[in-house]
Amino acid sequence: MCGLIGCTGVKCAAKILYGGLEDLEYRGYDSAGIAVLEKGKIVAAKRKGRVCALKTAAEELCGTSGIGHTRWATHGRPSDENAHPHTSGRFSVVHNGIIENYSKIKEELEGEGYEFSSQTDSEVVVHLLNKYYRGDLKETVLCAVERLKGAFALCILCEGYEGFVAVKYRNPIIVGYGSGGALYAASDMPALAGLSGSVAVLKDGQIAFASEGKISFCDFYGEPVCLTFSPVPAAARSTRLGGFPHYMIKEINEIPAAVKNTAHAFAEEKCFAALSRAAKKRGGFGEIFMCGCGTAYHSALAASYFAEAELGIPVRAETAGEFRYKKSAVGGGTLFVAVSQSGETADTVEAARAAKAAGAYVVALTNVPYSALTGIADTVVPVRAGTEICVAATKSYCGQIAALALLSATLKGGTAYSRTLADLKEIGAKCSAAISDCGVEDVARACASSSGVYFIGRGIDYPVALEGSLKLKEVSYVPGEGYPAGELKHGTIALIDGGTLAVAVITDRSLGEKTASAVEQIYSRGGRAAVVCAEGCAPSNLAERADFIIEVPACPAYLSPIVSVIPLQLIAYRTAVILGRDPDKPRNLAKSVTVE
Ligand code: F6R
Repeated sequence: MCGLIGCTGVKCAAKILYGGLEDLEYRGYDSAGIAVLEKGKIVAAKRKGRVCALKTAAEELCGTSGIGHTRWATHGRPSDENAHPHTSGRFSVVHNGIIENYSKIKEELEGEGYEFSSQTDSEVVVHLLNKYYRGDLKETVLCAVERLKGAFALCILCEGYEGFVAVKYRNPIIVGYGSGGALYAASDMPALAGLSGSVAVLKDGQIAFASEGKISFCDFYGEPVCLTFSPVPAAARSTRLGGFPHYMIKEINEIPAAVKNTAHAFAEEKCFAALSRAAKKRGGFGEIFMCGCGTAYHSALAASYFAEAELGIPVRAETAGEFRYKKSAVGGGTLFVAVSQSGETADTVEAARAAKAAGAYVVALTNVPYSALTGIADTVVPVRAGTEICVAATKSYCGQIAALALLSATLKGGTAYSRTLADLKEIGAKCSAAISDCGVEDVARACASSSGVYFIGRGIDYPVALEGSLKLKEVSYVPGEGYPAGELKHGTIALIDGGTLAVAVITDRSLGEKTASAVEQIYSRGGRAAVVCAEGCAPSNLAERADFIIEVPACPAYLSPIVSVIPLQLIAYRTAVILGRDPDKPRNLAKSVTVE
């Protein structure tokens, strides 16, 4: 949800900022902009569209300090005018987040004669800075942030100050030291990986002043604060395509490593001990709530099937956006698991905050160890999928299922944990086999020419069907839905006609016949069907009749979502490519949804 970058003390700020924006583009690609201090004066360039649209204009900028922005539009459509940075007087600002009270401030500022050149909420920030400036930059920033409500990470440039200011409240910002006195800030680690030796993650209510080789910090009351710097995590470093045509297919190929590294990390970070201790201290958990958004919700939903069966207590999965506004009965006996690749999704972070306030024990299950979610949680269960650049989540979903399986096994006790570790060791090879052998091209062609694709499954195959449908929609824009196989006949079947394709997921032999009946109902209405099944799980009559059949290696039922999702991810990827879409940057989306 918008990417920010700032730098000072470098030879050519615009060049660094442009490179950083390319790394941050997954956070939004509606427009991009850069402002630099050229001979003490602010000079800006901004363009609607992808970062590459800014290239020529960026090459004309010089100066050693600057700020940059890549936008995911919230207030105001994508346009040159609404692109950041916004400038007023001696200030230029880039913003990630939402200023909730912007209308009131805008009215006040307009009344005082400030002219707005955009429809964004962000522009109020720069006019406030201009309004409060009396010669002291720190005082000015403190006065401006005091007025703001909502969520904001900011980078500020000010004529007369050779450097930049970074502000953090509910949206991420990281600062770092580079070589030769260079200083940096960015929304995320990968943008700093090649630039900074050591980095510090700002907490809510902190401000960094970066100038002349030094970064100093204060809080929103102006009191100095100390931050700990540490090296950039190794996982943030490898974000290049490495011969793959797209990040989506690269990241699907990284699923075996994601599962393996997640299992290692669970042991390394002593999650077993922390979770066992917490369960013991609370006399065991009476129920588990798992929350996430989009793909993370789907992994939580899949886990709710195996965890409830394993633990014999109610395990519920809910979308974080619903949970946070509901009068839920979570309390001291609840284990609340917040699942999020980025650890920054606003709804998931707020749901975790609400659960914690209600007395639940909160686990953050995330791929980003320095995220907002980890700051709230009682325990962090790491997902080690590595940096995920493609906007559509793939390897992180599989890493999440692996981590959730280990969490469930830990709570079960006895031999469950060692059994799960052993099962996960076998999964990597099965995933590799699914990636290289499952042959999705014909199904992808059928999807590309379908008016709608319905993904169906029963039991643990249902969340996988939901995930298959989400993946196809978001990267190829082919309409579709995920449905429990038994529910199709209760209404949605009215949509089935000759242009419809159904994809049935079957990994449980005992439910195969049931799902096969749903497929028969689709055939009877003229639709076509593809069956994605674990080896030997499709009933023979269905295997013979299906228009397409894709087999993946069989594995223990609770881990099947890790393997059975792979053909669905590949179908979505190939459909997008066949239709000429960019699977890495689907329209209207951004990877981290840090606003409500
Ligand atoms: C879909 C996708 C999104 C995310 C969702 C949550 O491919 O990527 O649905 O899963 O926005 O994001 P995180 O996991 O970062 O909280």
